[in-house]
Amino acid sequence: MRRPKVFTLRNPKSVVSEAYRTLRTNIQFSSIDKPIKSIVITSSILGEGKSTTSINIAVTMAQSGKKVLLVGCDLRKPSLHRAFIMSNSKGLTNILVGNEDYKDIVYKAKGVEGLDVIGSGPIPPNPAELLGSYKMKNFIEEMHEEYDMIILDTPPIGAVTDGAILSTIVDGTILVCSVGESDINAAKRAKDLLDKVNANILGVVLNKVPIDDGGYYKYHYSEYYDYSYDDTSTRSGKRSKRKRKVHA
Ligand SMILES: Nc1ncnc2c1ncn2[C@@H]1O[C@H](COP(=O)(O)OP(=O)(O)O)[C@@H](O)[C@H]1O
Ligand SMILES: [Mg+2]
Repeated sequence: MRRPKVFTLRNPKSVVSEAYRTLRTNIQFSSIDKPIKSIVITSSILGEGKSTTSINIAVTMAQSGKKVLLVGCDLRKPSLHRAFIMSNSKGLTNILVGNEDYKDIVYKAKGVEGLDVIGSGPIPPNPAELLGSYKMKNFIEEMHEEYDMIILDTPPIGAVTDGAILSTIVDGTILVCSVGESDINAAKRAKDLLDKVNANILGVVLNKVPIDDGGYYKYHYSEYYDYSYDDTSTRSGKRSKRKRKVHA
């Protein structure tokens, strides 16, 4: 399995990195009344770019001076450790099951100050139960005191309920869709599932958009869609869809 790429560290001046910085700004401005301090990145199927998006948002947030915690919550197909070339022998599951102190588990990302990473840890037999536990909720609450931003990389929502469960304990959720891979009905189902649990969907990242401009990357993150609420709507109310280009 190919590992997610840390574009924003390797090529901070590229168009891709610029797009992630715009996404960072859009997240920061997506809520005026209550600042977004924790987000879930999810998608309907595997391989759409959840981990890539989580990692690159985490890096750009840390580059803007925030203290950021990136947590690998895909307990079925963990990949953060491969992107950061760190060990996954200890991680989130050790904190939740083994009562280990997160300070002993956290990995300080090399080359980016302020970014701490917690991998999934050993794969448990009951991921949904673990992620839906009070312990997980309490852990995230506790981390809100330590970090400016917490980013949870999760499994696909179409396959398992973990992503939807986690959406209920964070401030906002981002759905990743990938050009040529995402199925529109699966994406709609994922959004419905998130609506059902009252998730605060901040928007949709359209990933892996092919470009044909002789650019450095064959594919790159291209557009950001966000759902803004109309004046009278509540968190679970009607949303209007707005499309924003994030690169010139
Ligand atoms: N914007 C992108 N441009 C190029 N490759 C990408 C992009 N997003 C993801 N990928 C590649 O697609 C594969 C799956 O991405 P990943 O982030 O691991 O998906 P997920 O976490 O949703 O399963 C990886 O090999 C990753 O490097
Ligand atoms: Mg992943």
